[in-house]
Amino acid sequence: MSRYYVTTPIYYVNDAPHVGHAYATVNADALARWHRLIGDDVFFLTGTDEHGQKVARAAEEHGVTPTEWTDQLSPRFAAAWADLNISNDDFIRTTEARHHRAVQQFLTKIHENGWIVKDTYSGLYCVPCEQYYNEEDLVNGTLCPIHLRPVELLEEDNYFFRLSAFEQRLIDWYEANPEAVVPESKRNEALSFIKGGLRDISITRTSIDWGVLVPWDEQHVFYVWYDALVNYLTAIGYGQDMERFEQWWPSVHHLIGKEIIRFHCVWWPAMCMAAGIDPPAHVQVHGWLLVSGVKMSKSSLNKISPDELTAEFGVDAVRYHLLRDTPLGLDGDFSAEGITSRYNADLANNLGNLLSRVATVVGSKCGGVGPAPDPESRLASVAVEVVSEVTEAWNAGQPNLGLEATWRLLRETNAELETAEPWKADPGPGVDAVLGSALEVLRLVSVLVVPAMPATAEHIWRRIGLSGSPADQRLPGAAVWGGYPGGLDVEKGAPLFPRRK
Ligand code: ME8
Ligand code: MG
Repeated sequence: MSRYYVTTPIYYVNDAPHVGHAYATVNADALARWHRLIGDDVFFLTGTDEHGQKVARAAEEHGVTPTEWTDQLSPRFAAAWADLNISNDDFIRTTEARHHRAVQQFLTKIHENGWIVKDTYSGLYCVPCEQYYNEEDLVNGTLCPIHLRPVELLEEDNYFFRLSAFEQRLIDWYEANPEAVVPESKRNEALSFIKGGLRDISITRTSIDWGVLVPWDEQHVFYVWYDALVNYLTAIGYGQDMERFEQWWPSVHHLIGKEIIRFHCVWWPAMCMAAGIDPPAHVQVHGWLLVSGVKMSKSSLNKISPDELTAEFGVDAVRYHLLRDTPLGLDGDFSAEGITSRYNADLANNLGNLLSRVATVVGSKCGGVGPAPDPESRLASVAVEVVSEVTEAWNAGQPNLGLEATWRLLRETNAELETAEPWKADPGPGVDAVLGSALEVLRLVSVLVVPAMPATAEHIWRRIGLSGSPADQRLPGAAVWGGYPGGLDVEKGAPLFPRRK
């Protein structure tokens, strides 16, 4: 059996989750669900990043301790994901004892291997980014290029990771593993950053104590990124259950936003090498959701909360929109018009309409009992093509293309019904063949939409009289034309996706 380990970034708990975080989490969820559908053994990890200056300051501003703050905020992420029907297998918090232990073990290993040394550091630090900048990277020499706010001068006696020693090894690694980072443009970005020359990185802080203690020098805590990245190892048993760890590592799929490439594609593989484990096998970089051209972010006013959106459109419509309209790797504009028009075109018109039509006509022409599909239907060959395109797209981490292909089958089926007009014909074998084939498409589509719209998939499955669950079907077997047995009660029901204004 194949194994599929997929991760999201762990989110900072300086504020509540917004639709940008939902975008990353829903994509990871859909990929996890796809892999379960094809029979892979899946482990899907998300969680919260709770240490560091940014979170400590948020707590301070709210007049509570960091522990009180993170204990309030982390559950809000978990709740947002439960609301969006996210099927994560684990939810890691970096404040957990298991994580402290793993960070200490991992970094001790790097220290023992000679890749961590003590030195004095002074530099320009951006608190929201939790990183030092070189002056030439700043806007007007003073502002953080991401947050456009002044950086602060920080001087510390601390420990350094000898990143510079890994330059050539990283270059060799990327050359030997051309698909380690996708899309290719992002791989090139990482590689050119490495080729531009790497400096050693300060990885501990004495200025704050909200972090994981450095085990060999307890005046220090680890810098938040050096703590956070290790979450990917903690959750699969690093240092505790190495047998389990080795089942999942290094063939992980890290899904990350494009602003954290440097951490995941330069620092992280080097840290792994320094600790004597393989670098992560796959990093898939996604773009940003923008609102009127500006990145949706915790620190700006354009953020939209996922629960507002699901209350308005429904969970599956939100999931569908996030997956369908912004291809992984590109930026996408987020707007109420965008989600509404996608909803009306694909969900109300194509999918919802097909189900209502078929259920209504089965009611009037077949006494409510669904007929079996026509083995010779033209739709059978369309289905074969579609299933192969869908499979290729999802396996390549391209949900938008997988859904686009799925909707072709729906459109062709609606067109077939419009040509045959079974609602005008007399009951009999002709009508049965057309309706049975449309029901077979609905069966098949409910399996194919499990990753994107799990509740909708279950709903369609039940409406056409099937028992069990589409999520328990396995591809490719479940895609073979003719799986709808006929003779089942089809329920007319209310419109699945009523049209919106
Ligand atoms: O960077 N559009 O956490 P973070 C799309 N704790 N995705 C977005 C987005 C937007 N507008 N805004 C955020 C951190 N994201 C670190 C990560 S991992 C070891 C540590 C998503 O709370 C996107 O996936 O700033 C981005 O990379 C992530 O949230 C950053 O979340
Ligand atoms: Mg961020």
